Amino acid sequence: MAPMSEGNQQSIEALSAEHRMFPPPAEFAANALTNDRTLFDEAAADHEGFWARQASELVEWSRPWDTVLEWDLPYSKWFLGGQLNVSANCLDRHVAAGNGDKIAIHWEGEPGDSRDITYAEMLDEVSKFANVLTGLGVEKGDRVMVYMPMIPEAAVAMLACARIGAPHSVVFGGFSAQSLADRIDDADAKVVITADGGHRRGSVFPLKPAADEAVEKTSTIEHVVVVKRGGNEVDMVDGRDHWYHELMNGASADCPPVPHDSEDLLFLLYTSGTTGKPKGIMHTMGGYLTHTTYTHKYVFDLHPETDVFWCTADVGWITGHSYIVYGPMSNGCTQVMYEGVPNYPENDRFWEIVAKYGVTKFYTAPTAIRTFMKWGAEEPAKHDLSSLQLLGTVGEPINPEAWMWYHEHIGGGRCPIVDTWWQTETGGIMISPLPGVTTTKPGSATHPLPGVVAELVDDDANHVETGGGYLTLTKPWPGMLRGIWGDPQRYIDTYWGRFDDRYFAGDGAKIDDDGYLWVLGRVDDVMNVSGHRISTAEVESALVSHPSVAEAAVVGATDATTGQAVMAYVILRSGAADVTPEELRTHVAGEIGAIAKPKAIFITPDLPKTRSGKIMRRLLRDVAEGRNLGDTTTLADASVVDELQRRANEAP
Ligand code: WT7
Repeated sequence: MAPMSEGNQQSIEALSAEHRMFPPPAEFAANALTNDRTLFDEAAADHEGFWARQASELVEWSRPWDTVLEWDLPYSKWFLGGQLNVSANCLDRHVAAGNGDKIAIHWEGEPGDSRDITYAEMLDEVSKFANVLTGLGVEKGDRVMVYMPMIPEAAVAMLACARIGAPHSVVFGGFSAQSLADRIDDADAKVVITADGGHRRGSVFPLKPAADEAVEKTSTIEHVVVVKRGGNEVDMVDGRDHWYHELMNGASADCPPVPHDSEDLLFLLYTSGTTGKPKGIMHTMGGYLTHTTYTHKYVFDLHPETDVFWCTADVGWITGHSYIVYGPMSNGCTQVMYEGVPNYPENDRFWEIVAKYGVTKFYTAPTAIRTFMKWGAEEPAKHDLSSLQLLGTVGEPINPEAWMWYHEHIGGGRCPIVDTWWQTETGGIMISPLPGVTTTKPGSATHPLPGVVAELVDDDANHVETGGGYLTLTKPWPGMLRGIWGDPQRYIDTYWGRFDDRYFAGDGAKIDDDGYLWVLGRVDDVMNVSGHRISTAEVESALVSHPSVAEAAVVGATDATTGQAVMAYVILRSGAADVTPEELRTHVAGEIGAIAKPKAIFITPDLPKTRSGKIMRRLLRDVAEGRNLGDTTTLADASVVDELQRRANEAP
């Protein structure tokens, strides 16, 4: 494990200069669900009792639990003996309460088409599709892949799986056929739900051909269900492939929600770790739903009667799972779902959507905010954004300048900002302001939520009162991962190996004199590019899978817009055909997906290594970030670095 990197040290100093404070606006606090310390005090006094109250108040159970928590370190189980149906919590109970006509999703297609879907319609669609899946032979426990654009059918597919207890595994539509194939293999999945294609940046991106390629590379898929969206030409394999609309035509909408055990698997979601192989993060039903419903309610101060919530994430990431599908729908609120990019047809598309639907709570990533800053304040100024009441950010540290811009130009100076820290593994938000309670500081995620216990520690696991340290979690929480699919040892090694008896998933943080937490970023070999997690090892193995590449080293270099950028150093095989960096970038996109494409690739005769043969990533990061190189005396051959620097300086 690397010590706090130099980049982190620099940001500690920069952030120490940040002293602005923003107490909750009085009017907001007066109407907030919570505006005092009650929840904090309750959770501190009785951790389990606090979560049990949330579970019973916010979630509907078919059978009450016998045991709130079984904590067999490092495994937690919540609400044991309890039974529920997650899709019934997200749909049936709202319809039963008389809210069937309420809009669940204002869906906005990129080309400008739109659909409003009510809770009753959603329930109908999910029930039918659950019956369709059962008809295709999907049984409880079978894994189902979802590889879709941002269309309502993605949420329908997930909720239908949840209804019948078949864990879904959503793969972001931007991932390659190879990535999908790897995940199908690892999960031993039976069915793929996809679409012909989706709309992105003004054109149709095909998904079905990639799904075909993945299914051909693997051996477990029996059926492929295809939603028509892109209108692009696709091949349908007889007996294996089915059009969604055709299956749905004959399906019954009668599908009573069967109760599932609290600890039954709800989904797998693959995320990058420090090795080349993505991890299938396991989330179960009762705890995950409790955590996402609770955090969505209190962090966004949800008033479901009046709120229009919009989370701009893709359902392919955990943010989309927790704050598009499960949290918002369990809370029965109206939300916006948008298919495309923020700059189609013009740079003001998001603000047009906010005004069109009267969005009240808006949740996006710092990368997006920095991009909006580049496009200029005149873009949001073209629209009436006065409906907005609260803004959120997630995915990476937000720099104070971006926070202030968001506050001023999107929030009109009146909206509290919640900077929410969490991970695929935590299932839901962990560290964040409560908007009616917490005085915020631009760039700080502030404090753990009620029910979450975090501690900063140094290299030797000593408590850090102020200053930099490793961010650890010391008590179990309901949304915590239940393990890594098929690899229990990796679960233990990854999260519980660095410190005894505490969860550590790789972030460095600082705590200031006022006790505020500032999450600084990963301290392991995981990059964060535009809020997406990419492993250096994964990109390296994609590069060396190219026939001309002998060796590759990848680092994340600080980038003003994307947070980090992927930088690659490549040694070509002797006698290999000449290959350009552009060809290698395309190769990486083909292996993993466009999000992993290196920003720059430097072809080099050698890599800086220690005398024991370890690649010195710190030096490579320094070169990529144009920093002065420190001590290179441990290098086997110091001239390698001079050469690298020369090449980096020559690069465009
Ligand atoms: C990593 C988790 C959580 C959903 C999106 C990403 C970074 C996340 C923050 C934040 C600073 C953040 C961390 C974390 N991160 N939120 N508010 N401030 N860093 O989920 O792909 O599992 O990545 O994202 O480094 O470990 P993920």
